[in-house]
Amino acid sequence: MNIQFDSKNLLADMVGKEHGVTRSEIERSESKALKALRTLRRQSEAGLYGFPHLPFQDTAIRAVTRYAGEVNGTYDTVCVVGIGGSALGVWALDCGIRGPHPVQGAHTPQHPRLVILDNVDPSFTAQALDSMDPRKTLVVVIAKSGGTAETVSTFLIVREWMERALGRRKAAARITAVTTEGKGDLFELARAERYRTFGIPENVGGRFSVLTPVGLVPAALAGIDIRKLARGAARMTHFCWQPDLEENIALRAALYHWLIWTRKHKSIQVALPYSNHLWGTAFWFRQLWAESLGKAHNLKGEVVHAGQTPVAALGATDQHSQVQLYLEGPNDKVFTFWAVKKFASAGKIPSRKFGLPAFDALAGQSLARLIDAERRATAAAMVEAERPNCTVTLDRVDEEHLGAFFQMMEFQTAFVGGMLGIDAFDQPGVELGKKFTYGLMGREGYEQYRRQFQTYERKRARAK
Ligand code: PA5
Repeated sequence: MNIQFDSKNLLADMVGKEHGVTRSEIERSESKALKALRTLRRQSEAGLYGFPHLPFQDTAIRAVTRYAGEVNGTYDTVCVVGIGGSALGVWALDCGIRGPHPVQGAHTPQHPRLVILDNVDPSFTAQALDSMDPRKTLVVVIAKSGGTAETVSTFLIVREWMERALGRRKAAARITAVTTEGKGDLFELARAERYRTFGIPENVGGRFSVLTPVGLVPAALAGIDIRKLARGAARMTHFCWQPDLEENIALRAALYHWLIWTRKHKSIQVALPYSNHLWGTAFWFRQLWAESLGKAHNLKGEVVHAGQTPVAALGATDQHSQVQLYLEGPNDKVFTFWAVKKFASAGKIPSRKFGLPAFDALAGQSLARLIDAERRATAAAMVEAERPNCTVTLDRVDEEHLGAFFQMMEFQTAFVGGMLGIDAFDQPGVELGKKFTYGLMGREGYEQYRRQFQTYERKRARAK
């Protein structure tokens, strides 16, 4: 496993003092980064945060592997019902290992197909159901809270679709629930209907849960090697605890990002994977960075409205859509390129020449070389325009590298949260939206949110 972080283009020497960090700014902030590391270590050892322990949970990994073995050969489709942290990691994994696929959804061509029902768009859901055979589908319903409106409603539709075709008992045998052990409405239903159940540790939040059964169950069913995933994550975890910025790339990246964000006022971070296989991971990262670091209050209770808006852009495709803005628009962004050293195939360009300069220049080369040149050229153009940027390079996109990369990003996010003095692990904003939704849908106990929403509607009616 080999992942590198190149921070050179974040330096003042490269992009000027206004936009890049100086050696003395870095040195002055090192102790803050180390303090964030010590605090996270203490809290995770005390059991407050569970994500650093996940790669070492052999029992959970064995249980999921055993289950995948038991059901092997009984399905051609895995239908995941979940949203946010209960869906994005699965998409990132499948896109990374078996993909690429361009969007979440019902059309993964590989066997077995993975269908992720996250959104509650009625036609998307209907089309997905039409594309599956209930006798050959395994359903994995995932919700940490056990009561998210989107997941519950879609699951009720899927459950009925299964029951109508197979009858109650056979349908239940094809449904697995991943939720908090012993708690919540999904757990209660799973118990009543005797679904196979896997637990999500209480101390692991949705966006940090890809290495719990949330990601592991669908991944194992899709044929992804979850042991290798855990192995890569375990190796990265070892580095992430080192109090040495050279060895600990997550801490180094956190320090640079915190400086660029807070001292150079870059309020947007653009993640630019130069690999379609990493496109799902870019969306997973977008949630991780946004929900973890976008907070109204700091740990002292002061109003801070912290946050850096994460954007996902695909290289080289989005060079022809976004880079004009990135190079000449407001200098309010930091760019993180994600590079891949070895692609599964090089994409050799035929060597025949036509006597046409644009064609002949590329003849005999490869797409792998071209995509690498595109990324390096864009980074260089950004430096010319004084736009700070950095590069994370993965040797290849396989289970070990993805596991390590997830873990690196989770540590980096947690460290930045520590440096900002905010709670990177809660999501009060998401919770409020969920409560309003239930208020609007008439759920008992949510009347106050319905009333709050009605006040908002009256305000709208009065607005001129
Ligand atoms: O990261 C989070 O906590 C959220 O994005 C959740 O993953 C998302 O809201 C789904 O929640 P649940 O798993 O409870 O359905």
